[in-house]
Amino acid sequence: MSGPVAIIGGTGAMGRGLAARLALAGVEVVLGSRDAERGAAAAATLTDELGAGAAAITGTDNATAGGAAVVVLAVPFDGFEANLDSIAQTATTSVIVSMVNPLAFDRRGAYPITVEAGSIAEHIAERFPEARVVSAFNTVAARVLGDLDRPVDEDILVAGDDPEAVDLVVDLADRIEGARGVAVGALRLSMVLESLTPVLIGVNKRYRTHAGVRFSRLQVD
Ligand SMILES: NC(=O)c1ccc[n+]([C@@H]2O[C@H](COP(=O)([O-])OP(=O)(O)OC[C@H]3O[C@@H](n4cnc5c(N)ncnc54)[C@H](OP(=O)(O)O)[C@@H]3O)[C@@H](O)[C@H]2O)c1
Repeated sequence: MSGPVAIIGGTGAMGRGLAARLALAGVEVVLGSRDAERGAAAAATLTDELGAGAAAITGTDNATAGGAAVVVLAVPFDGFEANLDSIAQTATTSVIVSMVNPLAFDRRGAYPITVEAGSIAEHIAERFPEARVVSAFNTVAARVLGDLDRPVDEDILVAGDDPEAVDLVVDLADRIEGARGVAVGALRLSMVLESLTPVLIGVNKRYRTHAGVRFSRLQVD
């Protein structure tokens, strides 16, 4: 893959965890932030933590990061539209990877929120018609990504309509220690991936863990 992977919201829990995993796998990363200095500071901290041997991690503002060929959206559902605005001029033809899960909580726990487009990923595809949008990393807990003492040991489910973009993201997932990228089908299945997180949150609460997804009886090349 040529050029770094950009992570919008790269200063957050998922962004930092994914950045660390990718950098340890030799993939250069740019952390995007609403504040360029915050992005640069988060990148410097991660670089120190990972030490020599990891690929470069740099930090900047979201708009600049959005110019990368692969742009991962790791921002909260609340306010995510403003983050889309910030990359609207730069990520027009990128592969955009969404891990954004539209969910809310009430006294019965987490539940999925209905999105007019069908899913957040399809909403992004409507806003960025020239981009190739993929859903991935929706079901991996930030705590698991960020625990660098242990392999991820999960499947990373990837949905999208563009075969090359899906293959690229499956390959990225495969590079993460212990993870396996699995292409699950078309972008319209993103609603399923985005809705799995409330299920995992329910499991985590009941069994006090950070559960992920692993398909049984699946051999991939
Ligand atoms: N946490 C998990 O275990 C997990 C698992 C799977 C999927 N996800 C999904 O991954 C995405 C990121 O999750 P996260 O837990 O990493 O989120 P987070 O830590 O709360 O936020 C990530 C970053 O988003 C930026 N941001 C942009 N707009 C924001 C706003 N209105 N409020 C707060 N922060 C904002 C912030 O960076 P700057 O201030 O530097 O711009 C922040 O550091 C979410 O959509 C979530 O559904 C999370």
